[in-house]
Amino acid sequence: MTKIIDGKKISKEIKDEIKQQVAEMKKVGKNIALAVIQVGNNPASTVYVGNKKKACAYVGIESFSYELPEETTQEELLALVEELNKKKEVNGILVQLPLPKHIDEDKVIKAIDPSKDVDGFHPENVGALSIGQEGFVSCTPAGIIELLKRSDISIDGKECVIIGRSNIVGKPMALLLLRENGTVTVTHSHTKNLKEVAKRADILVVAIGKTKMVNEEYVKDGAVVIDVGMDRDENGKLCGDVDYDAVFDKVSAITPVPGGVGPMTIAMLLHNCVESAKRND
Ligand code: GUN
Repeated sequence: MTKIIDGKKISKEIKDEIKQQVAEMKKVGKNIALAVIQVGNNPASTVYVGNKKKACAYVGIESFSYELPEETTQEELLALVEELNKKKEVNGILVQLPLPKHIDEDKVIKAIDPSKDVDGFHPENVGALSIGQEGFVSCTPAGIIELLKRSDISIDGKECVIIGRSNIVGKPMALLLLRENGTVTVTHSHTKNLKEVAKRADILVVAIGKTKMVNEEYVKDGAVVIDVGMDRDENGKLCGDVDYDAVFDKVSAITPVPGGVGPMTIAMLLHNCVESAKRND
């Protein structure tokens, strides 16, 4: 029987735990606030930002919203980040990506105070993760580890294959699986014999951004499949990078899209906001 890993349910559990923590902190006068910056009106970003603000409200974290026009200059954005870095009442700063083309994303990420970088994108936090030191971890891969743990899927000693090497998902995913003692392989567009490599996986994480690319030819019997994709099929329906129906009978566990990895990203963002508030006490 294939287990459907219910990210919506697990993220709700985490959010309820966080809600309790936030309430306890409020009792001793500690409020938590996240600044959310969106530049322009990319429709997907507007949905993501809206969901993040809604989740903050649910757990009792205040969110300060900065909706800036598409024409905002890099200097203006950097000045806002600087201002938020200095504000004591702001615990987390999130700049929604992608940014308009005229703005250098790396420069903006680097400008965020690493102790407020709840996305875990700053080079200092990425570096800390790579050498096993404390810092903020990118929310999507952190959420995947939490999904596996709360579904009683052990990582220790397992063959873990990641398809995709992005800075936001693939690379930090590799480091986190390694930290859990997985044997990790990262594959990408230049990988030879991708199907054969993917088939070695006990745990297969797919974050390639290609609609339903991974079918039954990529998975071993009994594998655990984690689908990070957020795509639309030929009928406009939300789906992932994995052909869910094609692999379903072959795998032991799988995340659906929607309702798998997506809700976990937001839960981990809230977790990072609470951590930030605790650390900067
Ligand atoms: N764009 C897509 N995913 C993310 C994310 O996790 N954080 C931010 N800031 N932007 C994104």
